[in-house]
Amino acid sequence: MKLNHFKLFLPQILEKRYLKRISYEFKALYYGYIKKKKNKRLFEHDWKNKHINRHGIINKGIFRIKELKNNCNYLEIGCDRDQNFNAVALEEEFKTGVDPNSGGTVRDTSDNFFNQNKDLFDVIFVDGLHHYEQCQKDVINSIKNINNYGIIFIHDLLPRDWKIEHVPRCNESWSGDVWKVAIELNESENIDFYIADIDSGVGCAFVNKKSNYKNMKSELINKNYDYFLDNIRKCNLIHPNNLLKIISTFNFDLK
Ligand SMILES: C[S@@+](CC[C@H](N)C(=O)[O-])C[C@H]1O[C@@H](n2cnc3c(N)ncnc32)[C@H](O)[C@@H]1O
Repeated sequence: MKLNHFKLFLPQILEKRYLKRISYEFKALYYGYIKKKKNKRLFEHDWKNKHINRHGIINKGIFRIKELKNNCNYLEIGCDRDQNFNAVALEEEFKTGVDPNSGGTVRDTSDNFFNQNKDLFDVIFVDGLHHYEQCQKDVINSIKNINNYGIIFIHDLLPRDWKIEHVPRCNESWSGDVWKVAIELNESENIDFYIADIDSGVGCAFVNKKSNYKNMKSELINKNYDYFLDNIRKCNLIHPNNLLKIISTFNFDLK
């Protein structure tokens, strides 16, 4: 019975995926050649040789917070198919996942969620809509909803090529321009910020009640992939082993 269902829907599933891929190919050609956004430069990395991903780094943050506070209340913005949400090593009552489309525990946008939320969190993972301005809002709202001190992780800060970075989206694998938030966090007061050079880039911001986010929108809004490549290594881009060590000993008494 189950196999029959599968056979019945397989052509539709294939067709949908296939159409989506073709539509990305056309968009990439349009933005690349007609809008002249094509860029041959790449963000060079060796992620395959580093045997840890975002799940491991986030769990390390959770363990450190539990060491310091006993409890850890976790929030994830953007859950997709719960690839990360289900890997978070906490009991269900300490996990909130927000996504308007799939996964998590709250079916809504991050803006709507933060508008009505009354809870405070110790670890927040921002991985929702990959547009600079939305990610910036998600991080600012996360800082407001942190419980005295905590850690905000941000995914996809290191796009491999121009297509993965481009907004509007024109590639299946997509990071968008959320790297601009990394530039701002690196310049912010009372925020200690690092990027682990793994898994498309995992940002880690140690924040507390004195944290003051630096909005650099007027400077960054029109910056492109070349600017990313020329500046991102200045944002404490480190090996994941070093980030694990920093998380293990971090005391949250930020200057
Ligand atoms: C890259 S996926 C998240 C992947 C997941 N966090 C993981 O680590 O595997 C991005 C998700 O953000 C969701 N999303 C899009 N717009 C959003 C919004 N305004 N608020 C919250 N989530 C949003 C999408 O539905 C999608 O599931």
